[in-house]
Amino acid sequence: MVKTVRDYIRTIPDFPQAGILFRDVTTLFADARGFRMAIDQLLTPYAGLRIDRVAGLEARGFILGGAVAHQLSTGFVPIRKKGKLPARTIEQSYLLEYGEAVVEMHDDALQPGEKVLLVDDLLATGGTAEAGIRLIERLGAEVVGCAFVVDLPDLGGRKKLEALGMEVHALCAFEGL
Ligand code: PRP
Ligand code: MG
Repeated sequence: MVKTVRDYIRTIPDFPQAGILFRDVTTLFADARGFRMAIDQLLTPYAGLRIDRVAGLEARGFILGGAVAHQLSTGFVPIRKKGKLPARTIEQSYLLEYGEAVVEMHDDALQPGEKVLLVDDLLATGGTAEAGIRLIERLGAEVVGCAFVVDLPDLGGRKKLEALGMEVHALCAFEGL
């Protein structure tokens, strides 16, 4: 039987805490066929569209976003956890299950009017992606799509991003929390 992207993803029970099923994409990234399939499929909906730059969310979004940008022959822009970028930044906070986190982007990373594809490994509550979208839009650029390998639909991220007017693309979904 032909393996799909979903088949390459490993599930680890009780990580990082009891009761959580962790969807581990390292097994997908480590497989030559799986990784290429994932990158190709991430790009499928955007064929023929103008994309000026790919933005990736730390950390696993860097692995995917770098490969996607290479494939599109665009540049890559990192959206990082606070305190990692050396030049002047803009920052955006977002809610976690407990507390708050902050992501940053260099304030000269995008030009007004640029079309940006946002990439990450997984969409859960959508908080991380929403923060990324806000950073991109604050620089005057436009998000043309949000592409993920995994969607966890029960956590509501897709609905949240679609309510912001975003086009959401995910290669597979895992039901349940
Ligand atoms: C995970 C995942 C997404 C985010 C999704 O990253 O890689 O980036 O959570 O969750 P959300 O939709 O509820 O915001 P994490 O914050 O664990 O960090 P990492 O990628 O640096 O490991
Ligand atoms: Mg992440």
